[in-house]
Amino acid sequence: MRCWGLLREGVCLPDRPTLPQPYASRWRAAFGPDAAHDLAEALKDQPPLDICLRDPSQTQTYAESLGGQSLLPGHVRVPAGAPVTALPGYDDGAWWVQDIAAGLPARLIDARPGQSIADLCAAPGGKTLQLAATGAHVTAVDSSARRLERLRENLARTGLAADVVVADATTWRPDRQFDAVLLDAPCSATGTFRRHPDVLHLKAGRDTADLLDLQRRLLAHAATLVRPGGTLVYAVCSLEAEEGLAQIEQFLKAHSTWQRAVPSDAERGPFPTPRRATAAPGPATRRCPVAATAFRFTITRALTAPVIDARFRNC
Ligand SMILES: C[S@@+](CC[C@H](N)C(=O)[O-])C[C@H]1O[C@@H](n2cnc3c(N)ncnc32)[C@H](O)[C@@H]1O
Repeated sequence: MRCWGLLREGVCLPDRPTLPQPYASRWRAAFGPDAAHDLAEALKDQPPLDICLRDPSQTQTYAESLGGQSLLPGHVRVPAGAPVTALPGYDDGAWWVQDIAAGLPARLIDARPGQSIADLCAAPGGKTLQLAATGAHVTAVDSSARRLERLRENLARTGLAADVVVADATTWRPDRQFDAVLLDAPCSATGTFRRHPDVLHLKAGRDTADLLDLQRRLLAHAATLVRPGGTLVYAVCSLEAEEGLAQIEQFLKAHSTWQRAVPSDAERGPFPTPRRATAAPGPATRRCPVAATAFRFTITRALTAPVIDARFRNC
């Protein structure tokens, strides 16, 4: 037992961390007993601090000056508990804090200078910063004006630029389509449990029907904003299949011109290739013969909580 006067005298934590129900049994069934064990063990450790660099060519320089380790170009992991605002480069806006898994969806877009990209559900803007740092023209959309204020502050600190739009992304209708759209949908956020263990207690037993419906409508509308031949990335920071893989399967069934574009090993970064695929492949078309198989970032205790996401091409 480890005991501290956390909330009231005599509060103790068990030696072996446990996942709250219903997640313990649900994740055992979904991922297997070993992964469920690793997930519970992950509660024990303080998560490391991941930072994302504005200029990936500076990766080695910052890995050295921050005393950290890089797992991907543009990423540096520094020891847990490092004093963020005192670290080299913070005042210059040379980087921002972003878990490595949270950075993967924007990497899948492979944004290039001059491309037009819509970042839907963008606030507080970690992914907007990543996309803007590539030189792409980014339009960041979110329904929360308050959260977009934080996005504006983040842009100002890092010296990056994006158009910022307060709008409901289920109905937002700009006057043009985009080369790529990133949708980081609102979700149960169970994939962030390592950094926010309270999420498992707050969300347990909640009815998710409205959330699932919102994700479905956001994804369907996002698809209408992508130009023919463009890319759509759907991401949630949830481990629940109904918010990730099931949404993707549903989308592919209802949108026959869309194909799934499987991420390469290089794009997966330190996340290993999934042990098994669970989603049905999308229909193949002659015009866009992209291989379509499911993927899920395998849960690895040494890494941050995984993100389930998917990239599609509009044929
Ligand atoms: C997971 S957070 C986004 C995190 C963000 N992409 C980042 O990387 O920092 C989900 C966001 O969706 C926004 N949101 C929820 N419903 C929305 C809607 N109908 N239209 C637009 N934004 C919405 C919330 O305000 C919230 O900021």
